Amino acid sequence: MKQYLHIDEWCIIEEGFDAHTHELSESIFSIGNGYMGQRANFEEAYSGHTLQGSYMAGVYYPDKTRVGWWKNGYPEYFAKVLNSTNWIGIGIEVDGEPLDLIKVKVHDFVRTLHMKEGYLSRRFTATLEGGKEVQIDAIRFVSLKRQEIGAIRYSVTPLNFSGQIRFTPYLDGDVVNKDSNYDEKFWLEVNKGSDEAKAHLTVKTKKLDFHVTSVMTYAVTKAGQPVSVTPEQAEREKFVSHSFTIDAAQGEEVVLFKYVANVTSRNYGLGQLLPTAEKLAEDAKTAGFAALLQEQMDAWAHTWEESDIIIEGDPSAQQAIRFNIFQLNQTYSGEDDRLNIGPKGFTGEKYGGSTYWDTEAYCVPFYLSTHDPAISRNLLIYRYKHLEKAKENARKLGFKKGALYPMVTMNGEECHNEWEITFEEIHRNGAIAHAIFNYVNYTGDKAYLGQYGLEVLAEISRFWEERVQFAPNKGQYVMLGVTGPNEYENNVNNNWYTNRIAVWTLEYTLESLAYLKEAEPGRYAELVERLGLTEEETAKWQDIIDRMYYPADEERGVFLQQDGFLDKALIPVKELPAENLPINQNWSWDRILRSCYIKQADVLQGLYFLGDRYDLETKKRNFDFYEPLTVHESSLSPCVHAILACELGYQEKAYEMYLRTARLDLDNYNNDTEDGCHITSMAGTWMAVVHGFGGLRVQNDRLLLNPFVPGHWTAFSFKVVFRGSRLKVTATADAIEIVNETDVPADLSVSGNVGTLEPHGTWRQERVKA
Ligand code: BGC
Repeated sequence: MKQYLHIDEWCIIEEGFDAHTHELSESIFSIGNGYMGQRANFEEAYSGHTLQGSYMAGVYYPDKTRVGWWKNGYPEYFAKVLNSTNWIGIGIEVDGEPLDLIKVKVHDFVRTLHMKEGYLSRRFTATLEGGKEVQIDAIRFVSLKRQEIGAIRYSVTPLNFSGQIRFTPYLDGDVVNKDSNYDEKFWLEVNKGSDEAKAHLTVKTKKLDFHVTSVMTYAVTKAGQPVSVTPEQAEREKFVSHSFTIDAAQGEEVVLFKYVANVTSRNYGLGQLLPTAEKLAEDAKTAGFAALLQEQMDAWAHTWEESDIIIEGDPSAQQAIRFNIFQLNQTYSGEDDRLNIGPKGFTGEKYGGSTYWDTEAYCVPFYLSTHDPAISRNLLIYRYKHLEKAKENARKLGFKKGALYPMVTMNGEECHNEWEITFEEIHRNGAIAHAIFNYVNYTGDKAYLGQYGLEVLAEISRFWEERVQFAPNKGQYVMLGVTGPNEYENNVNNNWYTNRIAVWTLEYTLESLAYLKEAEPGRYAELVERLGLTEEETAKWQDIIDRMYYPADEERGVFLQQDGFLDKALIPVKELPAENLPINQNWSWDRILRSCYIKQADVLQGLYFLGDRYDLETKKRNFDFYEPLTVHESSLSPCVHAILACELGYQEKAYEMYLRTARLDLDNYNNDTEDGCHITSMAGTWMAVVHGFGGLRVQNDRLLLNPFVPGHWTAFSFKVVFRGSRLKVTATADAIEIVNETDVPADLSVSGNVGTLEPHGTWRQERVKA
């Protein structure tokens, strides 16, 4: 674990430049606005190790799969979000000597991510080879208000000399994806050009024909006064630049303001790309950097107003939770139902920026409680729009009916890269169904079922119907050859979680059909006809519900992760020599698969999802059995354990798990953050606070809260939206206080006390001392 960042409640701060941690910092200090994202690469040239990354949401490439031995059903391609035009670049020369941090002496380096205001800054002094010293101050952000705009303020001040500073702002489309399967470059040039005031570049992808047009405009000041420049314009393939030289006296600050509009063919016709980007970039320049930054601060103030979490008495936990909330809001803004949330967001290339079950299992609850319901609804609509592809996917695998959603996708097609692991993780279908339940249960928007939800539920149910099989020897239904959430087991029979979530889906689908028949008979009849749903089919679903087999150990009173789990040597993780951990970096795959070690919540994932169906004793027995065997080598693991531990009153364990999820990237816990931050697990961190320490649930149209303050904190508070109201929940050691910040009443149950919190009212409850 590496701790090199300063603890601060609102900022992430790195002091001193260390090339060894640069790629890690490039991930952590990433900026984004849901539409585009940018790793914390330097504007000026840098010849050290770097992962250059400028990403446009939804612009991806179907890179041909790399596989040793082809098998039927293997996806043709692995989709990846593309590293696209580098729009931040600004070459700097000081009296002819290029500025490159690996080649100069760097002093007083400070890189800061300002989470409250939504921008990145960097400040340092560089001593060049000949002894000349310059001070650099750089600020940049991608605008929340004008999503296509990125703005940079880059200043150079000669400290011990007077001389010439040459600036070369550029747009460079000649970029690569580090994860390209065949070292292929994915972009072709369409056009480029420039005049004295601006430059543009349009590139398109070799496949799928995504076009990205970037236009840069800029302004220059010296000692605070505007300077007009006549740039030298240069071009090469997929590249345009402007260069100009400014005479600067010692101590005189020269500032370049660079404004770039990046627009894509996802949103505009090809003919509109250039004029649109030109207008946006010119408007940004007219508004000016200070005004754009003010807009940014206002937009972030609004976001924090809705979703901040305050932790008192533990600045490191405070910083961590804000970092998680900040990154989630940078990744997905929710207006566009064609977009989703990649496990690394825009902070790196791993997982290709594609959609996983992470969205439904981890992210939906965050957006449900912190944003307008339209945002989480769009995440659901994304899957609704992919229903036809999910049906095709099931057909490709030999199923006659039903829908199997992909484990990894960009456009609804399966595109995972690891056949052996993800192929059999059909449990993702269950998470997609469960997210529909979550949305309806949380928002009360039951109309969603008739409009979209039931179609998805019915097709998923059909898949389960065909995927299970009746085992005559047991007189029960079984499900063979699956991989559960614990990817350290492959091709197992009767994974308890998968069997359980499948049956739960069938139950919820039948319940929802019964609801629709009663509430909207016309829509019900229409839907039944459209789906061709028969009584025979629904009777079969009921039969599966009634006669599903679940592996269990009666003696221990636990559900078994899968058939045969007890044949393994059950040695707790804490008895493994420390040098064995993480096992995924120290053991062979064969050894991992044979072992009892669990990568992430599996049975426990089911007990979390379906928490209201199991009593505390059952949860306790299973937690006590499985957690000691769990290595938490997926970032998605600790949060679920933290939530269950809270429910069980295991406060120390809950806090241990919370710390592991909350500072995962800031402390580079898994030693892999240079590949990108674990964005989807950040939603898990939020859940650990709000569902775990806050005890938030929704049952029968009522918001349940049952907060406790972990011993390391003095108090904490969070905000949630619920059915039109916004509530600020504060828990201290002695009391719980809930303030309704809106005109809408909220039905609550607080540690068992039921009531309604009136508009703008305050609910205060002393804790009962044990
Ligand atoms: C986890 C999966 C998850 C994926 C992407 C894997 O390590 O085991 O559950 O979907 O990462 O986050």
